[in-house]
Amino acid sequence: MQTQGRNIVTLRSGVPLFEPRALAFVQTRGQVSSPERGLPEGHAVEWAARTLNVTTDQALSTWFFDGAGRVAPGSASSARHRLTHSPRAPPARRLPSRLPNDAGSNGGGAHMAELSSSNRTFVLAERPKGEPDANTLRLVAVDVPTPGKGQLLLRNRYLSLDPYMRGRMSAAPSYAPPVELGAVMVGGTVATVETSDVPGFSVGDWVVAFGGWQDYVLSDGKGLINLGPNPENPSWALGVLGMPGLTAWAGLTQIGRPQAGETLVVAGASGPVGATVGQIGKLLGCHVVGIAGGSKKCGHVVDTLGFDACIDYKADGFADALKAAVPSGIDIYFENVGGAVLDAVLPRLNTSARIPVCGLISQYNATSLPPGPDRLNLLMGMILRKRMTLRGFIVFDDFGHLYGEFSKKMTEWVKNGDIQYREEVISGLEQAPAAFIGLLRGEAFGKRVIALTP
Ligand SMILES: NC(=O)c1ccc[n+]([C@@H]2O[C@H](COP(=O)([O-])OP(=O)(O)OC[C@H]3O[C@@H](n4cnc5c(N)ncnc54)[C@H](OP(=O)(O)O)[C@@H]3O)[C@@H](O)[C@H]2O)c1
Repeated sequence: MQTQGRNIVTLRSGVPLFEPRALAFVQTRGQVSSPERGLPEGHAVEWAARTLNVTTDQALSTWFFDGAGRVAPGSASSARHRLTHSPRAPPARRLPSRLPNDAGSNGGGAHMAELSSSNRTFVLAERPKGEPDANTLRLVAVDVPTPGKGQLLLRNRYLSLDPYMRGRMSAAPSYAPPVELGAVMVGGTVATVETSDVPGFSVGDWVVAFGGWQDYVLSDGKGLINLGPNPENPSWALGVLGMPGLTAWAGLTQIGRPQAGETLVVAGASGPVGATVGQIGKLLGCHVVGIAGGSKKCGHVVDTLGFDACIDYKADGFADALKAAVPSGIDIYFENVGGAVLDAVLPRLNTSARIPVCGLISQYNATSLPPGPDRLNLLMGMILRKRMTLRGFIVFDDFGHLYGEFSKKMTEWVKNGDIQYREEVISGLEQAPAAFIGLLRGEAFGKRVIALTP
């Protein structure tokens, strides 16, 4: 192993390993958008500096280079290999070749043979101030956990990236406790059962779990949704058929209470929640106007999702364009973003308007309140005069009991083509931090998930 600059090339069995910070650096600048494109070979210090428009010193501080100042040949998929040594991660430990109960009730030996010897985990390293960055999460390789009696060993196959994760990184008061420093970052996953000592779960079943940013996790089966051995699109259970879909359907029907002919405005319209809200609104006979960032997303919202209109909130004249798109005012505003979008929506709200307050993504990285004047009393006055209903909700706390009804309805809508779904799958757990930072910046186009295995 040789070192140069402030970073270290970790070579083991000739495999070049890239520290996640390096990948994040490139990813967040959009220079390498998929692992398939691979990382460059050759004189990468100069390449990185030129391509990313940074100094060679900055490039050196974010990449691993070999002794000759080169990124060792390989693609980003190489980075999927186990992180065996880094200045921040403890050395990986080896598992015994057989787990103690790998011949348990359903634990097939053949399945166990495919187990990786280590469990890559992303732990919370720092609480971000403002936008999370490359230091927020740290990749650590640990042993694959050993299942005990009454437990399942799950292998995460897809990790959902969701805006709420920003809240979990923060110690500020919230509806859920923060992730502790050094603990594995939380997240919804779709996983396969590797060993089972829990009735109702067989080896090879796919399950929806809260498995976190890691390869393997133990479970006692509680709270899992069993998708069976051969689900058609397993990752969709993290999107339109799962939490975001339930959020959209329940928030709209229970709080928005749409009536045919009413005008529904949906913020974050191209994302998994907003896209689903608007399409359900259309199915229920509403006039639906989306709000999204950029002409590409807006084109998709109208042409593919079937909204009546979509307004680009980043374009000049946004407030006027919105006004023109809702000649009869707004009866329901599905709030996903807050900030400047909310400012433009408020004057257009009708008497008795309903506002499901689902999310405020524009504020998640904010470090202070927006500049004055304080408009809280104006808002309260408007709520009073127009007798509006604003109701916040947390999907599983408030509407978890409706999951069965939602699941049946949504499965049918998706099967019939009544609801369209756009998903963005990014390969490799090591891509997750950069992909998450990008999500908060509005770079996701559709539901963003990480595929952990090929
Ligand atoms: N209450 C609950 O239980 C619950 C459950 C799930 C989700 N949520 C919330 O619902 C919202 C949507 O969730 P999702 O999973 O569908 O997320 P998402 O749409 O994938 O979220 C990312 C999108 O938010 C938009 N965005 C980012 N920054 C923005 C800004 N400053 N101003 C306006 N828009 C911005 C971007 O779209 P553009 O490019 O169009 O800006 C981006 O693509 C989020 O606020 C989330 O926290 C709440």
